[in-house]
Order: sequence, then structure tokens, then C-alpha cells
Amino acid sequence: MHAAAAAPFAMCIGNAFLTQRAGGLDNGVGLLPPLGYNTWNDMGCAGLSEAGVRAAADSLVATGLRDLGYRYVNLDDCWHDPSGRVPATGRLQEDPFRFPSGLAELGNYLHERGLKFGIYTDRGSLTCGGRPGSLGNEELDADTFARWGVDYVKEDNCFSSTGPNDQDAVFQQFGRFRDGLNKTGRPIYFSVCGGGGQLPLANLSYYATDPRGGGALANSWRVSSDCTVWVTCQNAYRIAADLGNAAGLGGFNDPDMLLGSSPGAARRLSPAQSRTQLSVWAILMAPLLIGAPLQSLSGYDLETYSNKEVLDVDQDLLRRQGSLLSKVGSRLVWGRELAGGDWALVFENDGWFRTHNVTCGSTCWGKMSFPTGTMLRVRDLWAHAAPTVARHWAVAGADYSVSVAPQGASVMLRFSCVVGATVVV
Ligand code: GLA
Repeated sequence: MHAAAAAPFAMCIGNAFLTQRAGGLDNGVGLLPPLGYNTWNDMGCAGLSEAGVRAAADSLVATGLRDLGYRYVNLDDCWHDPSGRVPATGRLQEDPFRFPSGLAELGNYLHERGLKFGIYTDRGSLTCGGRPGSLGNEELDADTFARWGVDYVKEDNCFSSTGPNDQDAVFQQFGRFRDGLNKTGRPIYFSVCGGGGQLPLANLSYYATDPRGGGALANSWRVSSDCTVWVTCQNAYRIAADLGNAAGLGGFNDPDMLLGSSPGAARRLSPAQSRTQLSVWAILMAPLLIGAPLQSLSGYDLETYSNKEVLDVDQDLLRRQGSLLSKVGSRLVWGRELAGGDWALVFENDGWFRTHNVTCGSTCWGKMSFPTGTMLRVRDLWAHAAPTVARHWAVAGADYSVSVAPQGASVMLRFSCVVGATVVV
């Protein structure tokens, strides 16, 4: 390798912000992936309550997570009155025992604290938890939610009359809810969830690729069955990795919610896997909805979700989803191009037993926009410093290796062009 002549500035500033929408949905929300909290992985069905949701909201404020951008507080399944709709009006109603103040009042509570109010429904006759679904009442339910001050609707896929995979019914029924939301005039983020009723490792990429899906249908669309343990989260990220073309301003692939690693959580990953999940979700420009118990969040999880350098990757204004740059056995390198020309990379070791060097080699460099020989400064986004497990500089095109612990651990780095410096590889 030899030092060489200065390169033009243009090599370092290679892109412009994306200002066009990915698809046809134009509701003014979802300009960036939403950040927040969802009750499902934490409270499930049985544990959902008004007191619990208020406490979760208070924790978002107290921990500083709200001010980092986590604004959505989303009720998932089981908020409904199990006895059904209001007989006289046919409108959905909340469970009066779990939500004694009513959902409109809960919405006020959230809005007064600078938070946003999310809710859950289902395109079938029942939700996955057996509560009333929206089939045949899409417009009415959208109107009820708008009256309650809802800012985000997740619509699930259970108990449809023709099964979970009848694609015509999927797009017609979710489409009716989308139209109902548009009709309310209230800007409401719309998230469709194909996960319900699917096999554990289902691939739902048709939500992203069908012309009736993606950004024409919703602000985000699930691409897999639920991410509840590491192997199902891996299924979700592998599927989302190939769907970048469908994502952009106003519409995002959704590999499901964040799990965390807090002791006592109903569902959790190992601490290292939970950081890998946030890192890879940021590469994938995914919605970031925390499912860990906010009132008893471990210090480790709070540090994870507060990592502004990683959140900045997720919220990057280029709005170009990243992908898997290379995979050699269980050694994965993820990458995403950022506004201004930097790249964020995640070096992941999915082997079971040994620490490995995970390498960005020719395949990996070939998918990035740096001209061969460009000198790059490297920053570790979890250490908030130059890396200690790899070199603090890289040369585009030359192998760059990072030592990574096994079982889903990773190292996340940001490569920035050193203006004017190139070397011959
Ligand atoms: C499905 C969804 C989950 C959650 C539950 C609620 O499994 O995929 O995200 O909403 O239903 O019952």
C-alpha cells in the first residue's frame, strides 16, 4: 500500500437527501421510522392496564427516552371491551375495568406529556387475542380512533375469513382501513402487521414487493412472523435485508419490535443480542418500538436505547435502507449509506462458540460507494470512540477485520471519508 495523490472532494460527498415518497400513501407522517414503546412484549394481553400504560409513559419521560425521539406509546392487543362493540353505535369501546378513565383521556395524558398515542386493531373478525376485529367496520373504527386522538394504528392479520395468506383479501381489507384513516383527515401513522397466525419463520416479503403493498398501503409493513427469540429475530432481519427498494420516505420495512435484555422481562434476548438488534434495525431503517419493561429497565438496556449515535443511523435523512453486505458462514457485515457519504457498518458473529474476525472484504466493499483507496476514519458507535477491537482507520477495498464475540454479538462502526486522502490498494 502506498500513499497517493489527493482525491477530489466529490469522493466524500456522494449523495443527496431523498425527498420523494417511496409509494402512494401520503398522510404526512412516517417521514422517518417511528420510535417509541409498545405494550405487547412487555404486558402481553393479561397485563395490559391504564395504570401500566401511564407508568410506561412517565418512564419514557423520566429516562430521557422521549427527548431522544421515543414518542409513540402504542397499546397493542386486549385494550377492547371483551363483550363487544357499543350496541347502539357499533363503535369499538375500551375495557372499562382495564381503562377506567377511557382511551380518549389516556390520549390526553400522553399528548400533555409530548407523547403520541398508538392503538391496535385487526383486519379479521377478531384480534389475535380474541377481541373484536375491524372486518366490515374499517371506516367506522378509523373514525373512532381519530376521535380518541390516536396518532398510530397497527392493524393485525388474525381471524380473517379467508385465511392469513389470501393476498387479495390482505390488500383489500388493509386498504379499506388505510382509506378510512385518510378520510378522517387526522395524520395517523398506519402500520400493517402480517405476523398474526403465521408459521414461526414465515416470510411475508410480499407485503413489501406487491404493487398494492409497501408505501402504497401503509407507513410500515411487517415482513415476517413475530420476533420473540433470537432465531425469529434473525428470520425477520434476513427478510428485511433484501427489501430495501420498497422503503423510503413515508414507508418502512418492519422486522418487528425490540426485545431488550432486562432481567424479569416477559421476553428478552441476551444483552449482546439486544444491542445487535438495535444496531441492525438501525441499518434497516426500521421502526424502533421498545418492548422491555420501562419502569424496571436495566441500566444496560437504558444505555442501549439511549445511544444517540445509533439512533442517528436509524433516523438518517438520506432515508436509504441498508442491507447485508457480506455473509461468510456465521460472519455477517451489514451496511447502510448515510447522508453526507458516511457508511454505518455492523460486524456480527452468529457462531456459537468462538470469537471470530469478521471481515469486510471485496464483496463488502463492492457494495459501498467509496472509491477504492479512499482513506476512512473509523468510529465505534457503542464505545463512542475509535475502535479498540479493530483499526481506527480503513482503506476502501482493503480487508478490514473486527474481532467479535459469538452468539449474536456485534460491533457497529461508522466509516467517514478523510477528505482528500487516498492510498493505492
Ligand atoms: C400478533 C402480532 C403481535 C401482537 C399480537 C397480539 O402475534 O404479530 O405483534 O400484536 O398478535 O395479539
